[in-house]
Order: sequence, then structure tokens, then C-alpha cells
Amino acid sequence: MNGFTADWLALREPVDAAARDAGLARRFAASLPQPARLADLGAGTGANARVLAPVIGGDQHWLLVEADEALCRAQRETLLAWAERAGHAARAADDAVVVHAPTGTWRFASLALDLRLDWGPLVAARLDGITCSALLDLASAAWIERLAAWLAARRLPFLAALTVDGRRVWMPPALEDAAVAAAFRRHQTRDKGLGPALGGEATEHAAKCLARLGFAVTTAASDWRLAPVAALVERLVRGDAEAALEAAPEAADAIARWRERRLAEAAAATLGLTVGHRELLALPG
Ligand SMILES: C[S@@+](CC[C@H](N)C(=O)[O-])C[C@H]1O[C@@H](n2cnc3c(N)ncnc32)[C@H](O)[C@@H]1O
Repeated sequence: MNGFTADWLALREPVDAAARDAGLARRFAASLPQPARLADLGAGTGANARVLAPVIGGDQHWLLVEADEALCRAQRETLLAWAERAGHAARAADDAVVVHAPTGTWRFASLALDLRLDWGPLVAARLDGITCSALLDLASAAWIERLAAWLAARRLPFLAALTVDGRRVWMPPALEDAAVAAAFRRHQTRDKGLGPALGGEATEHAAKCLARLGFAVTTAASDWRLAPVAALVERLVRGDAEAALEAAPEAADAIARWRERRLAEAAAATLGLTVGHRELLALPG
């Protein structure tokens, strides 16, 4: 497992929410019956469900599928805090959080499951739609093909939000950007929990597989546009430098120069960044 922490996911949650394509979310919502039974794959603390539940409206039953047990445990507290901020009554019940929103009752159940090894509980569940956010780029080609075949066999609508597409544009540009980016992209294709990851190629691969299986596929951009003051920028400089160094130790000097310059710019609030993401909606034909 790759070690995504709840504090990293909390830092990216508002940036993710602002970047998402509202049109694809609405079309996904419109494809669902009422009440809707959904699974969010690689759910983390449940950020994707928190964006989609109000868009879908009506009664909903969510399975938040996550391999990391610490993140599964964090789902309850994070969902309760979110409901309170939104002014909805909510309670924890057994393995779930139940939120009483004006448009319906939303039940969020945690399912601790490693989707590389075991699909049993997911296959056994009655579901009307599948979604994920910031997951597909972590998956291998074979895993995506398996997912697509399962979606096709059950004719389930699928929304994959916020898959990185490999673009990172730092402003202002620096000499070492290209070398760091190339090493970082190599690192992104390592095994992150679902086999050798496709990284920036994942959306295209998923789109091809799903279209071949008869789905109507639409994609849209959902880039992060981080202003110089964004707290995320400094974390990304550190993360990119660390990943680049692991993938290209021979470029250690260039990476260290890049890291120092970028951290100084981030501290002075003069460093901006665009991170390319794509959304994919696949509706059964
Ligand atoms: C980048 S995070 C995104 C989390 C959440 N969807 C969000 O948008 O905040 C990717 C998530 O996928 C989970 N994950 C990775 N491999 C997994 C696997 N084999 N089975 C289930 N979850 C997995 C990670 O633990 C992590 O929580």
C-alpha cells in the first residue's frame, strides 16, 4: 500500500472539489435509480462521496471501499464533521454514518478491502453505480481491464474523477523542470497498490476498454490550478523531488537544485502550478 494519509487527503479535498467537472457528475447522477446504491473505490476518507451525494440527491447507500484501515477508520469522523458543517443531522450507526440531508437520507458504510486481492464483497453487493476519484492513475492496465469487464457484465454507470494525465506546469518555469518531471512520471508508473500503475495513460486506457465494451464514454478536464499561496504547492515540491530522486538517483544534483529553488519560491508565494487531471464518465449503452 502506498501510504496516503488522512491529512494529505484533507489538504487536497477542497482543491479537488473545485477542479471537478460538474457536468459529468450531473450526468452520472441522472443515470442512477432512486434510491441509489453506489460504491466508491479507493475511497480514502470519502471525499468523492461528499462531492457526489448532494449532486445525486434522494436516498443513497454508499459503500466506501478502502484498503487502508486507518483511512477506513477516519471515514466516520470526517463524514460526521462534514455533515455538521453542512447543517445536516447525522449519526454513526454500526459500520456506517447516516446523514439526514434535505433531499434524502445518505448512508455511508465503510468496506475495508484490498481491491488488488479481493473483489468478493463488492461482487456480492447490489449496486447501481460505481465511482472513484484519484484512483485510476494508480491502477495497472490489467486492473482497469478487469474493472471494465465487471462494469460491462453488470451494465453499471461509472464516473472516475481526478485521474492525473501527467501534465505539471510550474510557473515560473525552471531549467530542471523537464528532468524532474520525467523522473516523477517514471515514479508514477511504479506499483501503488493496484499493480504497475498506468499513471497519466490511465484515462485513455479506461476510455478505450469501456468504449470497446459498448459504453458511451465522455472525458473532461479537471486540472488543479494552484495559486502561489496554496499550501499544497510546497507539499508537491517536496513530494515530486522525493519521487524523482527515487526514480532517477543519477540526477540527484539537478533535483536538489530544483527542490531548493522551488521551496524558496513556494515560501515567498511566487510559485504557481497546474496539475493536469481528467474525469471519465462511462454510461452503459
Ligand atoms: C489518491 S488517494 C484518493 C482517495 C480518495 N478517493 C480521494 O479522492 O480523496 C487513493 C486511494 O486509493 C486507495 N487504494 C490504493 N490501492 C488500493 C487497493 N488495492 N484497494 C483499495 N484501495 C486502494 C489508497 O489507500 C487511497 O486511499
